[in-house]
Amino acid sequence: MTPSPAKTQKFSITTPLYYVNDLPHIGSAYTTIAADVVARFHRLVGHRVLMITGTDEHGQKILRTAQERDVPPQQHCDQVAAGFERLWQQLNIAYDRFSRTTAERHHAIVNQFFQRVWDQGDIYKGQQQGWYCVSCEEFKEERDLLPNKHCPIHTNKPVEWRDEQNYFFRLSKYQESLEKLYAEQPDFIQPETRRNEVLSFVKRGLQDFSISRVNLDWGFPVPTDPEHTLYVWFDALLGYVTALQDPSETPDLDAAIAQWWPINIHLIGKDILRFHAVYWPAMLMSAGLPTPGRVFGHGFLTKDGQKMGKSLGNTLDPVELTEKYGADAVRYYFLREIEFGKDGDFSETRFINVLNADLANDLGNLLNRTAKMAARYCKGRVPDVDASVISPDHKLKALGQPLADTVTVAYTNLNFSRACTSVLALVQASNKFLDEQAPWSLYKQGKQAETEQVLYAVLESVRLAAYLLSPVIPAISIDIYRQLGFDADFNDKSIGDRLPFSDHACWGYLPAGQPLGQTSPVFQRLELPQAMPTT
Ligand code: MSP
Repeated sequence: MTPSPAKTQKFSITTPLYYVNDLPHIGSAYTTIAADVVARFHRLVGHRVLMITGTDEHGQKILRTAQERDVPPQQHCDQVAAGFERLWQQLNIAYDRFSRTTAERHHAIVNQFFQRVWDQGDIYKGQQQGWYCVSCEEFKEERDLLPNKHCPIHTNKPVEWRDEQNYFFRLSKYQESLEKLYAEQPDFIQPETRRNEVLSFVKRGLQDFSISRVNLDWGFPVPTDPEHTLYVWFDALLGYVTALQDPSETPDLDAAIAQWWPINIHLIGKDILRFHAVYWPAMLMSAGLPTPGRVFGHGFLTKDGQKMGKSLGNTLDPVELTEKYGADAVRYYFLREIEFGKDGDFSETRFINVLNADLANDLGNLLNRTAKMAARYCKGRVPDVDASVISPDHKLKALGQPLADTVTVAYTNLNFSRACTSVLALVQASNKFLDEQAPWSLYKQGKQAETEQVLYAVLESVRLAAYLLSPVIPAISIDIYRQLGFDADFNDKSIGDRLPFSDHACWGYLPAGQPLGQTSPVFQRLELPQAMPTT
């Protein structure tokens, strides 16, 4: 059993700060759900956790969207940012800070950071020529463009030619330091495929990149030359730093860094890897700040093989999906079904089948059947069994005992699918065990002790499953725990103190004789949508 790490251990994680060019889509929800699960797992083991999310509100893309809607840009940002916050409530995302890049306090941090980089001599003025993708907010190499001069990610958008005076950041100066970082901290970029992509990009030789724009006033002015506006990415990455301070504190770079820096994990999609794994650490080095622990670039949710996105307009509405099926269903499906790091296609049929199989049948029915039997055969209490005397060879004990270790490794490696399937393996074995042991017939034969032994082992396995899955399906886990007689709230940020991992992650913790709560199904079976009539 993994010893519970010291309570004071700190852990911080970020999602990207999402562009507010449109309402959130399922891709943004995917990253945020994953980050929330990691944050919740760390809270469960007793760590002090800071989870940061937020919105990226400056730049040409946002300005154009606001203009198209004929709304002042700040008003547009306020409206869309509120939509993100609403979705996070709906999806039960327990973030600690919501960082908005148009916040006044963020401006103060950006200015202080710029000054440090400026004092280092790492910013100079030069001529920028090249193809710009407004949807990516990034200059593209000509050789990376599609033949019709469209961006390979935003295939419906032509890139725009730019030839202007910009301020540049001396990225090339950090070539060696970055290579050293990647060598000394091999898990800095994950997964391996993403790391290799970055290594080969850096090996080709780093070029300085422009950090300002002209003819764009939706952003912070360059402190040393207010005619220029800071490039949206320079400003956005610093949103992570601004979020480190409580909004009630006076914004100050040193004070922010003193609290939680460096961030343990930046969770991002693979399209923004270069910014996080190359530009960002170099900017931090220039400002004399430590680099983050890990940058994990996950895959895309795709529709017909193409990245789902606001710019392509082929997204799935997370609000609708969550209203229809509930937060736990959405959270569980994406993490269980798609190997984190790889791309994954969404299909509603698969969605319904997975949820019915795992949550309604395997987990939900198991609890329901067993709790009803315990109500009848054991006077509504947890069966009177001393778990410590159950043989280590007992099928469910043998599977349950090492489970917390397996799941800890899986969550730590962001292998959510493995975490879910390992827990489900115990649940499936419990169903089989119940059918084989047939406690209903043991009871009829008057074998009370045997009946109680069987029911205890199954109820305890369900409890352990609920505890270890609580980062993914917190509402269902609360329901299961309450039905088992615990006063539990997996949404409580002090969960690691209230239901300590050192107790609850062990198979055998369920207290004998504990009065059970009311039984009710924890997950309603979902109906497959009616097939479209064929003509
Ligand atoms: N604003 C920048 C991030 C700045 S962080 C300092 C940005 N925003 S975004 O809204 O366009 O994208 C945010 C994240 O959502 C990215 O990590 C991106 O990979 C992810 N996704 C956007 N579409 C996606 C899918 N279809 N599937 C999975 N994630 C994708 O980039």
